[in-house]
Amino acid sequence: MRPKYVVGNWKLNGSLPGNESLLRAILKEVSPQPGRHLAVCVPAPYLAQVRGLLEGTPVAWGGQDVSRFEKGAYTGDVSGAMLREFGATFAIVGHSERRTLFGDTDEAVAQKYAAARKAGLVPIFCVGETLAEREKGVTESVLARQLDAVLEVSGAAALDGGLVAYEPVWAIGTGRTATSAQAQEAHAFLRGRVAKKDAGVASRLPILYGGSVKGSNAAELFAMPDVDGGLIGGASLVAEDFLAIWRAAVA
Ligand code: 13P
Repeated sequence: MRPKYVVGNWKLNGSLPGNESLLRAILKEVSPQPGRHLAVCVPAPYLAQVRGLLEGTPVAWGGQDVSRFEKGAYTGDVSGAMLREFGATFAIVGHSERRTLFGDTDEAVAQKYAAARKAGLVPIFCVGETLAEREKGVTESVLARQLDAVLEVSGAAALDGGLVAYEPVWAIGTGRTATSAQAQEAHAFLRGRVAKKDAGVASRLPILYGGSVKGSNAAELFAMPDVDGGLIGGASLVAEDFLAIWRAAVA
């Protein structure tokens, strides 16, 4: 049995008082659960605050992106080592918002994946097709291209210790969730493609689903054999909504 993960992606949201009340409300209910992991990926300026609130609790934390560079003249970037200094376990790489709004190419994402691994972070490597791509019937070739970029740079062995998140772009922030069957199909495709390189790595690889996950649909999604939890945007900003998803993962 693979572990299950529920990871919040706060995106560009938060404030010092708001973060504190959100995390305190989450901590009230969460207890350590074998094979279950809960985490929040926060804007970099809040890492110190979040570490102060979460250290020693069952909730881990991470960054939302990571530089492909280790250090130097890269204004605005945050390195993997910096995230580690603030106790981060995770770093999201290749989120569709980074790809479409900030120009992250498959190659840049692959380099970020490698940089995160090198720094000792667990990368959460996001892949997913747009609505136009799904309607054109090219979902699998898009997922293959995105996945292969990381496999080429880092090799299948580097996926051991990382997470993949399938996030169909058309389901992100739209309220339109992939059906559990659509998610399962994409996850099975991704796992199968990794298995062609390394069957052992593929069988251990947690693949999370992201895109309008809510308390009301989480249980059905998480029941799919290749869905190993969720990457949660909007619902991770409301304690009760995030906890409802956590309960679905623990049940
Ligand atoms: P929503 O849960 O708001 O659809 O966002 C999903 C997401 O992009 C998580 O990374």
